[in-house]
Amino acid sequence: MSGFNCKHILGLRDIAREDICKILKTAKAMKEIISRPIKKVPALRGKTVVTLFYENSTRTKLSFDLAAKYLSADTVSLSVSTSSVKKGESLIDTARTVEAMRTDILVMRHPASGAPATLKNYLNCAIVNAGDGMNEHPTQALLDLFTIQEKKGKIEGLRVAIIGDILHSRVARSNIWGLKKLGAEVAVAAPSTLIPPEIEKLGVEVYTKVEEALKGADVVNVLRLQLERQESSLIPSLREYAMMYCINEKRLNHAKDDVLLMHPGPMNRGVEISDDVADSARSAINEQVTNGVAVRMAVLYLLAGGEKVEKID
Ligand code: NCD
Repeated sequence: MSGFNCKHILGLRDIAREDICKILKTAKAMKEIISRPIKKVPALRGKTVVTLFYENSTRTKLSFDLAAKYLSADTVSLSVSTSSVKKGESLIDTARTVEAMRTDILVMRHPASGAPATLKNYLNCAIVNAGDGMNEHPTQALLDLFTIQEKKGKIEGLRVAIIGDILHSRVARSNIWGLKKLGAEVAVAAPSTLIPPEIEKLGVEVYTKVEEALKGADVVNVLRLQLERQESSLIPSLREYAMMYCINEKRLNHAKDDVLLMHPGPMNRGVEISDDVADSARSAINEQVTNGVAVRMAVLYLLAGGEKVEKID
């Protein structure tokens, strides 16, 4: 395999198509490793991964922790709520302190868009963005791409509909960058108050009527309504949002028969997605979680030097 050209993973906007493909290919090997009875390889022995989360997380944090452990790295999580951040320490000082302890890879989630990118000017270790504000969530999009490729056998030429709170969604932004780079057609749908201005400049079709975006879709990625990020009331009520936008069986019939249904989690069941759809055979929601571990293993492995560190087999 050719080399990997990223020192950090900050977003899919700035990653070349070849490097995205390299991550997806490596993730395939990682998925095989985590399906073994003994799911541990020595690839990152002696490397240290620190996770620093300034925002809540279940899946992303757990899967980075497990990914590092399955590769035999030492992993530590700094809980921001009990750290010196609460004494007013700046982000840069906290990150420099973490790095001074010989951290190789810093995985960070932060409510401010651009926070991980700022840190790269102050640190030498590799930085992985685990979600920054409304900007990007690259590893979520990579696991979404991996899931699509695994289930559909390709990405190029597929029609992907992204439905829901696009305005506040770093998942949507990273998905759009990644999907477009890999040749998919992307349609988004949301109430007009939840569509970011100029989103069509990213090369996506934009709809306020959900059925139009769903028409002929191979993949439907449903986004959580990010209630914690809604400063003013952008929708009349949850009930009305659900009435118009909730992805249920009836609406899903507008998509192709073999449509693949995804959601990054956590779900607001009955708001953006109905129970019958979330738990149906067409849903890859649980598989996405498993794939998240494989993709994060691939990212950590490649950032640590890939085959220069140790060959995985
Ligand atoms: C997403 C996030 O935090 O951006 N969740 C995740 O990482 N699985 C999406 C969300 O919170 O809605």
